[in-house]
Amino acid sequence: MTRSVVVKVTDVHKSYQDFVALKGVSFELHAGQTMALLGHNGAGKSSLIKMILGLIQPSLGEIQVYGNTLNASQQHVQLDIGYLPENVSFYEKLSGYEVLSYFAALKGVNREKVLQILVEFGLADAQHRLVKTYSKGMRQRLGFAQAILSEPRLILLDEPTVGLDPLASEFMYRKINELKAKGCAVIICTHELSLVEGNVDFALIVGQGKVLAQGSLNELKQASNLKIKIKSAALEQHHQHLNGFQSCYFQGCLHVDYGIKADVIRHITQHLGIYDFSLAEPSLNDIYQYYINQLEGQHG
Ligand SMILES: Nc1ncnc2c1ncn2[C@@H]1O[C@H](COP(=O)(O)OP(=O)(O)OP(=O)(O)O)[C@@H](O)[C@H]1O
Ligand SMILES: [Mg+2]
Repeated sequence: MTRSVVVKVTDVHKSYQDFVALKGVSFELHAGQTMALLGHNGAGKSSLIKMILGLIQPSLGEIQVYGNTLNASQQHVQLDIGYLPENVSFYEKLSGYEVLSYFAALKGVNREKVLQILVEFGLADAQHRLVKTYSKGMRQRLGFAQAILSEPRLILLDEPTVGLDPLASEFMYRKINELKAKGCAVIICTHELSLVEGNVDFALIVGQGKVLAQGSLNELKQASNLKIKIKSAALEQHHQHLNGFQSCYFQGCLHVDYGIKADVIRHITQHLGIYDFSLAEPSLNDIYQYYINQLEGQHG
């Protein structure tokens, strides 16, 4: 099934006075896709999010949202974009209920939905308290509720799980997956790699303003060529029978390329009768470290 393109970023550059924050970023995001936007502090992630929203303009290149090219006069497309900023803040003299009601009125959402979402997000008991009395995690949940209130076709979440307890983070990703299933496109900018891993279709890793890598986790595993570790106590007795895979054996483990994983497993099960083994695949964190280390290597 081909799904419509929701965001198309083409060769985008962003400069702040003399400083070049982004140097030629391109990607496409389709309806029903989730993307992790990863990178070190100052890599340009929030700048990219703000450009997709139309809050700031690219210095060069083009951004299309729902097929429209963004420029300063096309604010209307923002109405159907949910946004959780990295430092979420609200008018502190309003209650949680008033904050959401305000956004509901702006987005044409009825009051019943406001009450429903407050309950769903565990904020029902605190709904009439002033937002200034909310904890960090409560503000974050209110911010997320605000971003998804109208079930927009595109949701941009800038560090959504900062300050959330483990169950609240899990709830947030469950909600993101529900919206994805309804066809929503989601960009999640985060430093919490283990949380986002398994919850996105692909990742875009930026470093010093450039795209270092992009693709699904499997594509990134292959592209980075990080080894998969196959560990088994039985390997110690049989490692001299590994034939062509002998050179992959050291430190008590087989260290194999993604592309030959199936062949190695076939060999150790069928020829050596080893079925009791564990597989350690590179994590998103390993992949991220690999690309950031490469970048640091290039710059000494
Ligand atoms: N308004 C601005 N004026 C000048 N420089 C800016 C401005 N906004 C961002 N920058 C610079 O652009 C670079 C990218 O910033 P950005 O906020 O996009 O990074 P980020 O990847 O979101 O970082 P973090 O992980 O810390 O949130 C940084 O060097 C930052 O100092
Ligand atoms: Mg940021």
